[in-house]
Amino acid sequence: MTVTTPHDLVIAPRNVRFGKHEGRSRLWMGGNAFATAWHNALSVVFPAGETFFIEVMRPFRNAAPQPLSEQIAAFVRQEAFHTREHNVFNDRLKAEGYDLSETEAWMEATLAKARARHPVVQLSVTTALEHFTAIFAHLTLKHPEIYAGTSDEARGLWMWHAIEEIEHKGVAYDTFMHVTRTMWAGNRWLMRNLVFLQVTWAFLTRRWGETLRLLEQDDIVGLRARFGLFAYLWLYPGILRRVSLSWAAYLAPSFHPWQRDDRNLIADAQRRYGLTPENGWSR
Ligand SMILES: [Fe+2]
Ligand SMILES: [Fe+2]
Repeated sequence: MTVTTPHDLVIAPRNVRFGKHEGRSRLWMGGNAFATAWHNALSVVFPAGETFFIEVMRPFRNAAPQPLSEQIAAFVRQEAFHTREHNVFNDRLKAEGYDLSETEAWMEATLAKARARHPVVQLSVTTALEHFTAIFAHLTLKHPEIYAGTSDEARGLWMWHAIEEIEHKGVAYDTFMHVTRTMWAGNRWLMRNLVFLQVTWAFLTRRWGETLRLLEQDDIVGLRARFGLFAYLWLYPGILRRVSLSWAAYLAPSFHPWQRDDRNLIADAQRRYGLTPENGWSR
């Protein structure tokens, strides 16, 4: 049976601000330097990456059928709010003395190259990276213990982002499938997977290097930095180990992001963290 995006899916952009940083310490992931540096490295690339997704998706909106066209509009709004909030988060990192200029410059150069490619290739880059955010979002909501020891506000930011990434996880994929509907299925599969493997390689090597550079700025260097980061990512809690099966699901010709309907995690997280409209979560 072909899986599609659920008909009753609600993609609700929540205009929330997390600028106060009450009680946030430098090692805000419960004092764990490796966890903190990994999340900081992710946050540093989010604003430019999400701005790129918005630019890529917007032009496809008018030609998209309903409800996809409406979903693209909601996707754009959610990513715009994420960009704003991660910019605030990253400003805080700069205020704490972290030098992020090298990573930011690399992102700009990489995205300039991506913007020169065919719009459908740019769309498949977006589709691939949205799979990454969806599988990390699933892990975040399913295993909130990974965020134990963080301040309420820091946890709120990452949970909020994860909730919305799950809600809109099928939008780029459905747009890609719509735009390439006349392509031969084999070519379409090959195209999205060649891009996916390229994106995976870049993601793993770049985030690894960027996290090490952040650790270096906290005087954690050499083997200690490499072993510590390796253990965090692949052993315990094993952030990358735990998403590897979900990562591989993308490779299947029949893949669809909603093969796994994980909206129950959204309802749980909203309840557990009081992230409801009554608590200032406007829609
Ligand atoms: Fe996002
Ligand atoms: Fe996203």
